[in-house]
Amino acid sequence: MLVLGLETSCDETGVALYDSEHGLLADALFSQIDLHRVYGGVVPELASRDHVKRMLPLIRQVLEEAGKSKTDIDAVAYTAGPGLVGALLVGASCAQALAFAWGIPALGVHHMEGHLLAPMLEEQPPAFPFVALLVSGGHTQLVRVDGIGQYQLLGESLDDAAGEAFDKTAKLMGLQYPGGPEIARLAQQGTPGRFKFPRPMTDRPGLEFSFSGLKTFTLNTWQQCQAAGDHSEQTRCDVALAFQQAVVDTLTIKCKRALKQTGLNNLVIAGGVSANKALRLSLEQMLGELKGAVFYARPAFCTDNGAMIAYAGCQRLLAGQHEGLAISVQARWPMEQLPAL
Ligand code: KG4
Ligand code: ZN
Repeated sequence: MLVLGLETSCDETGVALYDSEHGLLADALFSQIDLHRVYGGVVPELASRDHVKRMLPLIRQVLEEAGKSKTDIDAVAYTAGPGLVGALLVGASCAQALAFAWGIPALGVHHMEGHLLAPMLEEQPPAFPFVALLVSGGHTQLVRVDGIGQYQLLGESLDDAAGEAFDKTAKLMGLQYPGGPEIARLAQQGTPGRFKFPRPMTDRPGLEFSFSGLKTFTLNTWQQCQAAGDHSEQTRCDVALAFQQAVVDTLTIKCKRALKQTGLNNLVIAGGVSANKALRLSLEQMLGELKGAVFYARPAFCTDNGAMIAYAGCQRLLAGQHEGLAISVQARWPMEQLPAL
């Protein structure tokens, strides 16, 4: 089955062709980061308009790259939520229109299920069951995964998502959007041990997260340095490292707890923050001690992309799922509501 996947939940237009027999044939992405950077964050209306502009050229591009024509496509999968409603509607309308015109089924895919299954596109995919840490701009969740659609939420963030904490903290420190890669870049030059930041909610049992206090702690430290006349680039790097290390340690402690609680020793990390090298290293170390393994996607498939939507859609389409012609998207959509395959 050849599936065209469309991703438009936020500020990236992603398109891909996934073949159930031959794997990923082509994927293309247009990132709107430069468009939103001047505003310091995503402007929803601008995002929607840009998805409209990019979608059809990207579809033509993947067809050409894969050496396929529109008549070869068996189904269209698109992100139906969670995300920005206007942006989601562009992908949904486009997918439904193409499916109607071509006489093939369409299916709305859950964006976080897409992220969660992205490591399946790698050479050594994880086997069920496993614990998944989903860390994106909108979500921080620990999930027990027994199969596609068999999700048990173990814990999540009570306030900011991990990616959101990276973005907001970066903004407070005068860095550009998106802040995650910026902080990661500065942290490489940071002095280990100069600042010690708290590891929120690790001193009590449970798998919940809270990152908003850490953001404030970072801001206070940053402002104290500025007030003392320290405007050095080294201090910016040192603060970035202390913040990143606090997030990484906190995530690692909670992942270890979740693995212990479930008795599992395979961990999947997915979503934009799973591209963070310090996080990968820390989790690999922890899993090494537990004689387990950690799985993640290549960096381009950690952040938003069409390939994960084409893959996740394909699995559900193969199981017989598809939709009517209604164009419906959801800004909020708990992943546990998805049907099991
Ligand atoms: O999954 P994603 O592309 O979009 C959402 O579904 O939200 O995640 C984007 C988030 C942003 O908050 C971004 O700052 C963060 O992922 N991010 C990173 C890194 N690369 C992207 N955070 C930390 N380190 C990185 N290397
Ligand atoms: Zn995402």
